[in-house]
Amino acid sequence: METQILGCSRGSLARAKQYIEEGEIVAFHTETVYGLGANAFSDEAVLKIFALKGRPSDNPLIVHVHRDYDISALIGGEPPYAAALRAAFLPGPLTMVYPSAGKVSKYVSCGLGSLAVRVPSSPTAQAFLREVDLPVAAPSANLSKHVSPVTARHVYDDFNGKIPLILDGGACTGGIESTVLDCTGEVPQILREGLVTREMIASVAGDCLVYRLRAGERPKSPGMAYKHYAPRCKTAPCRSAAEAAELYRAELQAGGAPCILAERGVAEELSGYDVLDLGGTGEEMARNLYALLREGENRATLLIGVEPRLRGGVMAGVMNRWKRAFGETS
Ligand code: TXA
Ligand code: MG
Repeated sequence: METQILGCSRGSLARAKQYIEEGEIVAFHTETVYGLGANAFSDEAVLKIFALKGRPSDNPLIVHVHRDYDISALIGGEPPYAAALRAAFLPGPLTMVYPSAGKVSKYVSCGLGSLAVRVPSSPTAQAFLREVDLPVAAPSANLSKHVSPVTARHVYDDFNGKIPLILDGGACTGGIESTVLDCTGEVPQILREGLVTREMIASVAGDCLVYRLRAGERPKSPGMAYKHYAPRCKTAPCRSAAEAAELYRAELQAGGAPCILAERGVAEELSGYDVLDLGGTGEEMARNLYALLREGENRATLLIGVEPRLRGGVMAGVMNRWKRAFGETS
């Protein structure tokens, strides 16, 4: 199968609609990362996603809908705070988990009894979802465990020849996946941190919990239990420019090609080395992280990560991905 990368046009949208209706998979741009979409009502199409990604069968998918799609038939009701959160943050990088009405394929939620729903703000995603006018089940468009894709090229690198179409909307401006928020309880609870932060949610809902996975416990959001976002080269976590320089020299001496990923200030200190600059603010680091992890794996034998020191706001989400890419450093 030939994989086409097309921008948003009448023709490409019509083709995308046809593929989705035929049970095919279409990759599409969102403001967070690219998604790998299938008709959420079709068992066969949803199962195709798991097979393509090599995704564990107990890791549920998010359904994506356009901004005017009425989700009330798909879910078993919502608490008042959820309506307020929708009004404040959607369309945008917030996924809301509701009791499921059992209308979409059972393979979407992997038997959890809940359904995760997202309304992306990307114009490409909106145009695509409006054209198909169906709930589209879509995980991030990377092979399972690999770094999530933030350009059409990244999707192509993982799925060339396996899917017919990638709807190209340019580089993703958000850069890390949506915040996943459990809206089935009295107080909303974050299952995966992202660009919509705990503070932002609490300011609208009055309160917001953050779920922490305890050892030996069955995770509320199965995706949290998996190693993720791993670059294909060796990785080495460290905490300072001096430590990074030492690891760098050792790799050079061993005949390898090292590369360092570090936040702005540290990257500037290491200007004589092959350095990838992660950025200076939380938003920049979120936008750059996955692109630079992929850049690093393509050009280095060893990617040395200097743990960013910045905290607060979206850094909770950035550090969650960082630790899963580099392993814990403490
Ligand atoms: O930004 C995003 O959310 C991207 C774009 C494509 O929209 N999608 C994405 O999907 O990151 P994926 O499949 O890579 O991650 C979905 C996460 C997983 O951690 C999964 O366990 C969790 O959402 N999830 C899905 N349905 C759930 C449910 N019913 N209850 C709890 N967690 C759920
Ligand atoms: Mg993913």
